Amino acid sequence: MTSVDAIIERLGATRTCDSGLTREPWSFDSVRPGYGPGASARDRFPRNSPRQTPLPEEYTRATAAELQDRILEARHRLGDRALILSHYYQRDEIIVHADFVGDSFQLARNAATRPDADDIVFCGVHFMAETADILSTDRQNVILPNMAAGCSMADMADIDQVERCWRRLETACGTAPDADGRQQVVPVTYMNSSAALKAFCGRHGGIVCTSSNAHAVLDWAFARGRRVLFFPDQHLGRNTARAMGIPLDRMPVWDPFRPDGGHDDATWAQAAMILWKGFCSVHQRFTVEQIDRARKAYPDVTVLVHPECSMEVVDAADGVGSTAYIVRKIEEAPAGATIAVGTEINLVNRLAAQHPDKTVFCLDPVVCPCSTMYRIHPAYLAWSLENLVNGRVVNRITVDPATAADARVALTRMLEVHP
Ligand code: 13P
Ligand code: SF4
Repeated sequence: MTSVDAIIERLGATRTCDSGLTREPWSFDSVRPGYGPGASARDRFPRNSPRQTPLPEEYTRATAAELQDRILEARHRLGDRALILSHYYQRDEIIVHADFVGDSFQLARNAATRPDADDIVFCGVHFMAETADILSTDRQNVILPNMAAGCSMADMADIDQVERCWRRLETACGTAPDADGRQQVVPVTYMNSSAALKAFCGRHGGIVCTSSNAHAVLDWAFARGRRVLFFPDQHLGRNTARAMGIPLDRMPVWDPFRPDGGHDDATWAQAAMILWKGFCSVHQRFTVEQIDRARKAYPDVTVLVHPECSMEVVDAADGVGSTAYIVRKIEEAPAGATIAVGTEINLVNRLAAQHPDKTVFCLDPVVCPCSTMYRIHPAYLAWSLENLVNGRVVNRITVDPATAADARVALTRMLEVHP
């Protein structure tokens, strides 16, 4: 294993973005509110974000080996009752226990097709667990091992802000369909958003997308509307719309902290793609300078980046796509290939270890994991699984039935659109 934890331990505070990474994740559960150390440490933290209750000492004091044994034992006792799903950005010590590892789209689809499991233990972040709850059956429990594993990007758009934006756009663009029967604005939310925003899209003729199907989803949306309101990630929206030929001057950005989003009605009316001012702090770290340095050091390098990176970084790269795309491209590359990657460090290091015949490295020389993915440590997985063994469900993620029904409409549209 090339655990990022082990690398951080070796490096200490040098070449990591945050000295807090050398501390155990539970030291952040009760001490100070925030996303925890890592890429999102300085992002605005909503006051009502879920908090994790303190872990019992038997977990915080256990060694890494003890935790691994306890997880294996609990898994054995639970058998097929429990399904462990894991996003690619989880640390290796979690990935080894997963029944299925994937990107957000693959995980949503997997959760929807496993009614046999009583408990879905979701090693990812809050919006993914919410989606699994919406797409699974009522009798299934979805468990997030650490309640503090949110997503700072998802938190950059809340339902009140989106409702305010919608009302402004209705004033600026009107509400009557155009001559072709198309809506004035179709809302599209990135999977990285709360269930309330997915429900908003379900109610207003909109849809959900992930980084692996954004183009197909935007085709769907433009077939039904004159404009798209895309939240919360401006970069995925801009990169995808530009690849479809939409000019930048028809993609104004809605800033939820400025009056009327920061533009006048004429700007919103002439827009084709209205972007929300949100971003991912992991992917915002990648720069064109890093790509230039990689090309200088390795003239034959292939640069692959995630579409949450800025437009300039995407332009300078050789390939852009979701985490599943990056995994596939590295698998397909010939032996001896050199690949520089612009996505989360846990995935990049794992790919480097899995492909020793290729040179795979992260564009960012500083070790800076996603703060919230990082909060799922084996101590929390052991704690949630052992509680299940003892008949207790801890950290259950539930979406209220009305929100879930509307969100399911938007998610189902997405699952049907996927090429
Ligand atoms: P994908 O898994 O869809 O590539 O998204 C990456 C991500 O940022 C998940 O939070
Ligand atoms: Fe959110 Fe970015 Fe972390 Fe994904 S990588 S969970 S978008 S902060």
